[in-house]
Amino acid sequence: MHAVPPLLEETFRFRAACSELRDRSLLRQRLAIGSPQGASVRIGGDPVLNFCSNDYLGLANDPRLVSALKAGADRYGVGAGASSLVCGRSRAHEELESRVAAFTCRDRALLFCSGYMANLALGLSGLVGAGDHIIEDRLNHASLIDAARVSGARLVRYRHRDVDAATALIGSEKGKQLVLTDGVFSMDGDVAPIESLAQACRAAGTLLAVDDAHGIGVLGGRGGGTLELAGIGQDAVPILVGTFGKSFGTAGAFIAGPGDIIEYLCQRARTYIYTTASSPALTYATSCALEVAAAEPERRQRLFERIDYFRAGATAARLPLLDSMTPIQPLMLGSARRAAAVSDALRSAGILVTPVRPPTVAQGKSRLRITITAAHSFGQIDALLEHLVRLLGPGATP
Ligand SMILES: Cc1ncc(COP(=O)(O)O)c(C=O)c1O
Repeated sequence: MHAVPPLLEETFRFRAACSELRDRSLLRQRLAIGSPQGASVRIGGDPVLNFCSNDYLGLANDPRLVSALKAGADRYGVGAGASSLVCGRSRAHEELESRVAAFTCRDRALLFCSGYMANLALGLSGLVGAGDHIIEDRLNHASLIDAARVSGARLVRYRHRDVDAATALIGSEKGKQLVLTDGVFSMDGDVAPIESLAQACRAAGTLLAVDDAHGIGVLGGRGGGTLELAGIGQDAVPILVGTFGKSFGTAGAFIAGPGDIIEYLCQRARTYIYTTASSPALTYATSCALEVAAAEPERRQRLFERIDYFRAGATAARLPLLDSMTPIQPLMLGSARRAAAVSDALRSAGILVTPVRPPTVAQGKSRLRITITAAHSFGQIDALLEHLVRLLGPGATP
């Protein structure tokens, strides 16, 4: 008998791990969408109603953004060619930074290739380090948790949206503190108690950063996000993170805030410094997206009419929705197996809502994370509701 080579043995271990995930209904299946994003997409040639994208304003395939991407490529080319501090920062990047600063009513903005990298920058720039504390909501996005993990600071988490628990922590520890919270929570769709957090941070002289990936472009009359909705400026929340891959329909992200903080991040944030700058063509298209999002408040109006319509129908049918006023409408199903089964049944009916399961959410909290966009028609929402009632309504056995 030959001994199994060590590397092969490792390979068996990985295969067994994936097989276990499959047995527990936790194996993730990837799609290959054959069309632009939209309320309806094509998968393997078939049209499917899409209720799980973050393209909240319906901009991902807007003809003006497509033209801007082409014009940006004509003017600046496709690739940035280098990192931002070498020679990868183009006029397109400079212009987008100014636009983001104006859009968010902040002094300055710095661009990142993704929201994940922007959030990691908060832990990888020396804002806090060993001996310090990062205080976070328990349901913060994984990228904010990872920012704490890589920072060297100690991570302390408080119960979801629990202002008293957060306030008790803020100012209570030795060393520097940094408080991090989602603006709109990515899996529950509810909004952070920003005013109270800001007040507690101000009283304690603690830095507060808000990741408004799902609020920016959507909430507030101008689309300024959770902070506009709460009427809060950069004095109260000095660090604002936003992404372009959701309501703005492109990709990339920013951190906006007071000039001194942004200049510091520009000099020290490792996920800004040690990576190729984002595509200048895409950056140019994102400037167009910001312009459209600001100039067309009717998109937000359409979006909220559709959210209300969906919620009214789901509430009348007593579907187990969480209490969310944002485009993220979680339908709680409990076990991963049940969430996967309902998702599969919807898919057979031509409706796409991928199940969200552990470790993205806690055990027993698997769900369909339904997202409503400005591009959905009321008829499409009716179709979703009809199938949900068939599968989950009174008398159904999903
Ligand atoms: C709250 C939150 N922050 C950050 C991110 C990461 O953003 P990006 O997709 O641009 O990396 C996401 C999701 O992707 C998110 O939901």
